Amino acid sequence: MTPALEFSGIEGGYEPGLPILRGAGARVMPGEIVTLLGPNGAGKSTLVKAAAGLVPVWAGRVTLGGRDITGMPAHRMVHEGLGFVPQTENVFANLSVLDNLKLAAALVAKRRRRELAEMFALFPDLDRQRGLAAGRLSGGQRQMLAVARALVASPSVLMLDEPSAGLSPKLVGVVFDRLRAVRDAGVPILLVEQNVKAALALADRAVVLVEGRERLEGAAREVAADPRLKALYFGAHEEAA
Ligand SMILES: Nc1ncnc2c1ncn2[C@@H]1O[C@H](COP(=O)(O)OP(=O)(O)OP(=O)(O)O)[C@@H](O)[C@H]1O
Ligand SMILES: [Mg+2]
Repeated sequence: MTPALEFSGIEGGYEPGLPILRGAGARVMPGEIVTLLGPNGAGKSTLVKAAAGLVPVWAGRVTLGGRDITGMPAHRMVHEGLGFVPQTENVFANLSVLDNLKLAAALVAKRRRRELAEMFALFPDLDRQRGLAAGRLSGGQRQMLAVARALVASPSVLMLDEPSAGLSPKLVGVVFDRLRAVRDAGVPILLVEQNVKAALALADRAVVLVEGRERLEGAAREVAADPRLKALYFGAHEEAA
């Protein structure tokens, strides 16, 4: 089976000579949620940004459904079918829920767009607040809107950077429940998370990144039970101390 999204041997960073990604690899197969874990500064955000065309890739390859998208500019990604929900500034706070979705839909050709009605069916909370400025939504609802904005373009893969950041445990549950529905509707997901326990409970597989390389990879249930998981977080902690 062709991976929906695959990183191999990615080297890259923000400044030449200062590599953040040091040969990172990961893959998302059709039908799965893969969570990308690792201590602070491991390069998780940098890796998804590199896929999204927002960080230069010096070596290695990113493929989407087998097509090479390495180094493609960010504005092309939505057309290629890569959906990305960044951690911050992922909605237009001053625009209404409905206008946020319309704007996202306007970025892709009509044949590609999913109906807004479909989004409102998937996210009933947004339906009830169509006219509200996105900046006035609760944290959880704002994340749902950000996800809906990405889904409107019918991505073949969805990447999310810490959608649970700042949410109460209850709201994390609500957001993760929707991500499960997105996966079940046929959109595989790469989920960057700090919320290790909840992410491993949601995901099918996990990849643990440390210092720009994957150090542990496997079925989420196995990674959750693996003593190396804690050691990788703790180890990085000790070095930082
Ligand atoms: N815009 C930037 N310019 C220069 N260096 C950056 C930039 N963003 C991040 N870095 C550096 O890249 C490294 C990896 O950061 P990154 O944000 O990818 O880590 P992360 O795994 O997402 O961490 P966190 O869990 O804290 O979100 C860090 O050393 C960080 O300081
Ligand atoms: Mg990050």
